Formats: sequence, structure tokens, C-alpha cells
Amino acid sequence: MKKIIAIDGPAGAGKSTVSKICAARLGYTYIDTGAMYRAVALKVLQSGKILDETLINDIEIKLDSAGKVFLDGKDVTKEIRTPEVSRGASDVAKFGFVRKKLTELQREMARQGSVIMDGRDIGTQVLPNADLKIFLTASVEERARRRFEELKAKGAAVDFEQIKKEIILRDKQDSEREIAPLAQAEDAILLDSTNLTIEQVVLEILRLAQ
Ligand code: DC
Repeated sequence: MKKIIAIDGPAGAGKSTVSKICAARLGYTYIDTGAMYRAVALKVLQSGKILDETLINDIEIKLDSAGKVFLDGKDVTKEIRTPEVSRGASDVAKFGFVRKKLTELQREMARQGSVIMDGRDIGTQVLPNADLKIFLTASVEERARRRFEELKAKGAAVDFEQIKKEIILRDKQDSEREIAPLAQAEDAILLDSTNLTIEQVVLEILRLAQ
């Protein structure tokens, strides 16, 4: 039987890491909706075009089963992970016409089979009938630390205080926007990963999924 798991939460809470592992263990498809907002932001940044309905209607975003992200046929998996695109994604996510288009695409993907979808509004807007909803969070300090380590491991020149500032700003933007803000759905289970390992979070989600 088709099952839907929705995982929402703020930036750096570990959503994509644990969702990927859970999806692999359950044999579900993992859908990273943040990557889709990032692809829109990258398109705006690279093309220099104005973000309007034409740009959104013409955009082609594909996620493959290996976690690669394609924008208009080009592999942009790495390019969408820069701090500039993170900021841009949070900016483009404010617009109703952007959310409408991506929400339609996300619902279509969820119709194909069992999925774990992560984002900000999955349990509240995109898939309100999900079988399991998790709101995954962690302290700002811990989330900034994780992002710092992740970027450092990739060889980027990083400043912890700067990363923390950007996370606070993105949390504020994502949770205060008018349309589909980051919010815990009434029927979502709150999971605070501040003091948990990745494996502990994964096991808890798998337990809840059963
Ligand atoms: O999960 P992420 O950090 O890759 O998401 C990037 C931005 O995209 C995030 O700051 C807000 C936006 N986003 C959204 O508004 N709704 C979603 N379902 C997923 C992401």
C-alpha cells in the first residue's frame, strides 16, 4: 500500500540526511522540496531574468532517484548548495505563483508511490493527508554547527557566526512569510534532534512509520 511521510522543519535540522536514509531503508522515494526552491533561485541568479510567471511556467525541475537535481536538463546538484542560493531559495519561496507551481509538481511526485518528502510546508499544505508527519528541529546553535561542519568538510572558507546569522534570518523569513510559512502541522510529531545522533533520529522515524 502507498505510504506518505512528511518531514518539515527549519534549516539545518537534518531533514534531508535522515529522510534519505529512512527512504532507502523503507524502499520509498525521497523528495527534497528545498532543492526545487533552490533550483528556482539558481535559475533567477544565473539568467538575470525577473522572477515572474513566465519564468516559472517554463522551468523544468527534475529530481532523480540518486538524489541529483536537474534544472532545464542540466545537473545542478552541487550549484544549488551555495549560501547565495540558500538565501535566494528562501526569497523566491515567498511568492504564491512559485509555491503553486512547485506544490503541484510535489503532489504529482507523491502520486507515483510511497514517498518521504521533506520541506517547510509538506504536512500543512502539500500533503495534509500524509500517513506520518514529523516536525524535525534542533537548537539554532546546533544547526549552525552542523552547517559549519558540512561546509568546512567541502573545503569552503566558513565563519560560524556568519552561518548562524544566516540560519536565524532564514528561519525568520521562512516562518513569517504570508503564504505557507514554516509551521508544525497540528497532527505532526515534534522531534528535537539537538542531542540525538543521525541514527537515533532515523530509528525513531522508522519506529513511528511502523
Ligand atoms: O530545505 P532547504 O534549506 O534546502 O530549503 C531552501 C529554502 O527553500 C528554504 O529556506 C525555504 C524554501 N522552502 C520552502 O519554502 N518550502 C519547502 N517545502 C521547502 C523549502
